[in-house]
Amino acid sequence: MGKSVAIVGATGAVGRTMAKVIEEKNLNITKIGLFASKRSIGKKINIGSNEIIVEKTEIDKVSKYDYCLLAVDSKLSQKLAPELIKKGTIVIDNSSAFRLDHQVPLVVPEVNPQKAYNHKGIISNPNCSTIQMVLSLYPIHSISPIQRVVVSTYQSASGAGQKAVDELKNCTENVLNGVKCQNEAFIHPIAFSAIPHIDSFDPSGYTKEELKMSNETQKIMNSQIKVSATCVRIPTINCHCESINIQTKNKVTVTDALKAYEKFPSVKVWDNPKENIYPLPPNVDGYDDVFIGRIRQDKTIENGLNIWSVADNLRKGAATNAVQILELLI
Ligand SMILES: NC(=O)c1ccc[n+]([C@@H]2O[C@H](COP(=O)([O-])OP(=O)(O)OC[C@H]3O[C@@H](n4cnc5c(N)ncnc54)[C@H](OP(=O)(O)O)[C@@H]3O)[C@@H](O)[C@H]2O)c1
Repeated sequence: MGKSVAIVGATGAVGRTMAKVIEEKNLNITKIGLFASKRSIGKKINIGSNEIIVEKTEIDKVSKYDYCLLAVDSKLSQKLAPELIKKGTIVIDNSSAFRLDHQVPLVVPEVNPQKAYNHKGIISNPNCSTIQMVLSLYPIHSISPIQRVVVSTYQSASGAGQKAVDELKNCTENVLNGVKCQNEAFIHPIAFSAIPHIDSFDPSGYTKEELKMSNETQKIMNSQIKVSATCVRIPTINCHCESINIQTKNKVTVTDALKAYEKFPSVKVWDNPKENIYPLPPNVDGYDDVFIGRIRQDKTIENGLNIWSVADNLRKGAATNAVQILELLI
């Protein structure tokens, strides 16, 4: 029998992409409901040939669906998820609210799909930068255990939501016109800048985004991999980039790495320095895979590799991964 699915946060950057991904996949879904805040009542979103009207999020309405894809901030997820679970709706949550809860599976379907079946009503979708990094690491980890990772991210505006994309565009236009840029979605004006500050600071000096990359990677890969991250927002619209330094137990050559990635359908290698070929955000926008380039030996340590990874944060980093989890369940 076909299932029913609600998207809560359907008007946001992730929610809209979820609707697109559901439309593209031929899932056994008979009914889709779109929900957001009262500001969005009556907005229309097309899924295939159906025009669906956005409704105000109310537990009684959303809990009529078999599954709920939650794409709202973590405070709201914390409130809505337990109420929906109590009423029997299975929740796939995109926020950070439950990701490190021992009772809640944190799933990247290519890496730990079996965890999805072991849920108690809720499954968490990992952080966008984490999903991308885990997929970049996992093929290498499968040939030699990874001991330590040093990663620097170059994260796009869409990672901070739809308002942040609008702010990047307005701010860029203002700066070009000599007008002062107002910033709300970002801590500093984003145009022509790079901001090494995503989410709030922890007393350790790391940001919460950086700690997510470490803690979530360990949980998904079921390994004590040490991850030292620096997360930076840059003025691109969509797709996150990551420069990843990987230290393995045994030596992994560039050829070994290429063979490992070849076996992994969700990871594509675009790596031909002679032809200036490596993944770039505009070329990866709209794809579901993670793209790897600049694979090279780290000459400063015995068993080290450097790679460059780019992925669409709204698709594989959020919506596609969530819909793949849904696909596993239905
Ligand atoms: N953006 C990414 O790349 C990404 C990646 C991974 C995870 N995530 C996570 O996914 C979640 C959504 O992120 P986003 O980027 O899509 O944010 P966004 O573009 O700001 O969208 C937020 C959504 O939440 C809705 N909302 C706000 N207040 C609400 C309320 N009181 N009741 C019901 N709905 C409400 C908004 O509806 P209105 O339009 O009506 O205000 C909108 O649909 C966040 O937890 C984020 O951390 C994002």
